[in-house]
Amino acid sequence: MHINRNEGLYLNKGQKLWRRAKRIIPGGTMLFSKNPDLFLPNFWPAYFEKTKGCNIWDLEGKKYLDLSMMGIGTNILGYSRREVDGAVRNIIDKGNMATLNSKEEILLAEKLVQMHPWAGQVRFARTGGEAAAIAVRIARAATGRDKIAICGYHGWHDWYLSANLSNSKNLDSHLMKNLLIQGVQKNLKNSAFAFEYNNFNQLKQIVSSHDIGAVVMEVSRNEIPKNNFLDNVRKLTKNKNIVLIFDECTSGFRETFGGLHIKYKINPDMATFGKALGNGYAINAVIGRNSVMNYVNSTFISSTFWTERIGSAAALKTLEIMEKIKSWKIISNIGSDVKKKWLQLSKIHNIKLDIKGLDALPKFDFVNKNNLYYKTYISQEFLKKNFLASNSIYLCVNHNKNLINRYFDILDSIFVKIKQSMESNSDAEKLLEGPVCISGIRSKY
Ligand SMILES: Cc1ncc(COP(=O)(O)O)c(C=O)c1O
Repeated sequence: MHINRNEGLYLNKGQKLWRRAKRIIPGGTMLFSKNPDLFLPNFWPAYFEKTKGCNIWDLEGKKYLDLSMMGIGTNILGYSRREVDGAVRNIIDKGNMATLNSKEEILLAEKLVQMHPWAGQVRFARTGGEAAAIAVRIARAATGRDKIAICGYHGWHDWYLSANLSNSKNLDSHLMKNLLIQGVQKNLKNSAFAFEYNNFNQLKQIVSSHDIGAVVMEVSRNEIPKNNFLDNVRKLTKNKNIVLIFDECTSGFRETFGGLHIKYKINPDMATFGKALGNGYAINAVIGRNSVMNYVNSTFISSTFWTERIGSAAALKTLEIMEKIKSWKIISNIGSDVKKKWLQLSKIHNIKLDIKGLDALPKFDFVNKNNLYYKTYISQEFLKKNFLASNSIYLCVNHNKNLINRYFDILDSIFVKIKQSMESNSDAEKLLEGPVCISGIRSKY
C-alpha cells in the first residue's frame, strides 16, 4: 500500500482509519459498496459515530446529510428510527438468543405470507446472499435439476459467481463489473447462465440448450420491463416446470408494500427479501409456494444466528410502520421528483445524463468519457457543504422537499463548473483535489 509522506497532516480521522483497516482487513471492508474510494478517495469520511433520520455524524463529530446510499438501501424509514430501535431494545431487555425459539419469527412469516398470498411458507436468513443461496438450494432440491439461469446481482456465493467461470465478463452487465472469482470451484462451470434484462430470446435459448431448474432474477432495477418480459418469463418457466425466483432483496418495499412483483402482477414460485426489511437490522426472508418450500425437508439448511430475535422483531415493527405511513409511496414520489429535476438540470446546462433506476433508487451517469471524474467532483463539492452525495440516491422518508431543494441548489452550481470544464476542453482531472473514484458498479461511460 502506498502512503504519501506526511499525509497524516491532511487526512481526516476516517481516512486514517481506512488506511489502518486495509492493513488488517483485506479489502478494508466486508461490503464492497462501503469502500470510500468508490466515492471520494482521500476525503470521504469513511467511518461513522452515530446516525439519525438521514443524518450521519463522522468520527470528528461532523454532521452530514446522507443523499447517497442510506445504509446501502437498508433504511427506508430513516436511520435510528425510534420505534424500530424501541422494539429492538425491548428484545435486548428480554433476551435475544435462547435454547428455545422466538415467536416473532412465526409472526413475521405469517405477515409476509399475508402480504404475498401466492406464497405458503417462509424461511429466514440474515443476508441477501444467503437468502439467494437458500432459494437456489430449495429450487434444485425441488426440480432435481442443477442448472440455473440468472439475471441481476445475487451476492457473493459460488452458485452465482460460477457464471463467470466460462467467461470472466458474463456478469459484467449485472450490477457489478469485473467480479473476481478465484477460489470458486471450477467444476461449477456451466452451472449458472446469465441473461440480459429484457432479453427474453436469450433466456429462451439458455432454457432450450440447458436443463435449467431455476431462473433467479431481479424484478427490475435499472430498466423497466419491456415487451411483456416478466409475463413471458413467467409463462416459459411455468411451461418447463422451472422454479422462478424473484430476488427482491433490493427492490422489495420500494414501490409496493412487499415485492415489486405485486406492481407487475406476476407471481413467482419463490421470492427473497432483505435490505429494508428490518430498517437497518439484519433480517432476510425466503418465501415460496408450498409445493417448492416443502423440499426444505429434503435437504439441510440451518444456521445458529438465523434464529436470533432482533431481526424478526425489527422487521415486524418496520412492516407495521411502513404499512401505516405507506413509505413506498413517499419514497417513490420523492424519487420521481428527483429524476424530473435531474432532467431539468441536464437541459438547463446542456449536459447529457443517463437517468435510470426505480423511482425510489434513482441514479444517473454522465454520457461522457469523464463520467467518473464528474461523479467524484460531485462528491467532493457536496462534502464541503456537509452532504454525502454521489450519482445515486437510496431514498428514505426523511428526504423531505426542503432538503431536496437544497441538494438541487448545490447541484446546480456544480453543473455550472462541470459544463465549464467540458467546454474549455480542460482536463476533467483538474476539477479534483484528490484522485478520481474507483469504478466497480456497472457504468457504461
Ligand atoms: C438483488 C440483490 N440480491 C442479493 C444481494 C446481496 O445481499 P447481501 O449484501 O445482504 O448479501 C444484493 C445486495 O446488494 C442485492 O441487491
